[in-house]
Amino acid sequence: MGGQAVVNFDIKFLISNLTRNKQVTNNSEFAYKFMSEPILQTHNLSKRFKKRFAVSELNIEVERSDVFGFLGPNGAGKSTTIRMLLSLINPTSGKITLFGKNLHKHRGELLKRIGGLVEKPDFYGHLSAYDNLKFIGSLYGGVSRSRIEEVLDIVKLKDRMYDKVKTYSHGMKQRLGIAQALIGNPELIILDEPTSGLDPQGMKEVRELIRTLSSEHNITIFLSSHLLYEIELVSNRMAIINKGKLVIQGDVQELLNSGEHRVQIKAEPHEKAEQVIKSLPSVHLVDGTENRNGVIVVYTPFDNIPALNKVLVDNGVSVSAIIPRRSLEDYFLEMTEGASDV
Ligand SMILES: Nc1ncnc2c1ncn2[C@@H]1O[C@H](COP(=O)(O)OP(=O)(O)OP(=O)(O)O)[C@@H](O)[C@H]1O
Ligand SMILES: [Mg+2]
Repeated sequence: MGGQAVVNFDIKFLISNLTRNKQVTNNSEFAYKFMSEPILQTHNLSKRFKKRFAVSELNIEVERSDVFGFLGPNGAGKSTTIRMLLSLINPTSGKITLFGKNLHKHRGELLKRIGGLVEKPDFYGHLSAYDNLKFIGSLYGGVSRSRIEEVLDIVKLKDRMYDKVKTYSHGMKQRLGIAQALIGNPELIILDEPTSGLDPQGMKEVRELIRTLSSEHNITIFLSSHLLYEIELVSNRMAIINKGKLVIQGDVQELLNSGEHRVQIKAEPHEKAEQVIKSLPSVHLVDGTENRNGVIVVYTPFDNIPALNKVLVDNGVSVSAIIPRRSLEDYFLEMTEGASDV
């Protein structure tokens, strides 16, 4: 319970800190807003299955050229949101705007401009990658040989394109799933956990592919994940959801680095260290119940850590370890640990 209270305090601090930063950078943000354009927005989007809300009053905004990370623990509502974005299921209430138009009203026209990959892609195993893509293309009125070769080249499957899909590894099937999403030359692709079930090498390949699609092919990307570090590696903006509700959204680096860091300090003598820390205005000491095994837990801005170390040492305290953890990371870990009861 104590830990939860600290986390709640901290996330509030983080949000207020971000709001403050916004005021400081108001002019540059104003200019930036003129250049950026929201291409996907949800407005109080909700989905209820019987009595349970899988997604509740969700408001997110994806701008052109974003690699937008949609982060949440298991059962948070990521796949349900993605299925609504791809128009595979209807919202219970709220709406979705794509390229400034209502998805519900302009479904056919808007879906042509996006590509999607929902959970595990399904292919005909006895057909080659080429024939699978030709078949998918035929559902959209036909696709040229050169386009199929082009997308298979992008996902690095061109040299295996005539092999039967049943002979592909999981990573290759996942990349073929992304090729399938690209076939109609979309401006936006929506990928549900594209690295799910892959080994570290497979995950790295998919991350590199996502970066290439963004930087070289100018495609806006929306991808979901339950791993914060993965979103940090590929995304510039993100939203976190938990239990169907938006927790926070914004610039990834700004969200991760703003606010106070939770810092564990191992120092001797313990009482002297606590006494010094209590006298420092920009360091918040967590109450004694959290200080176990000689570890002191404080909250402080990251930039403050070297000065904190120096003050302790100058006062005759011997510091053996200072371990910072970013507040959002801390918060997300708590959220993920609590997700099993969702
Ligand atoms: N068709 C359905 N009928 C009933 N409940 C559903 C249905 N689909 C999803 N849910 C429920 O909605 C909630 C959100 O599920 P969802 O699959 O969207 O989560 P998720 O964030 O994609 O999770 P994961 O990381 O495990 O893929 C869960 O409680 C789930 O049981
Ligand atoms: Mg899911």
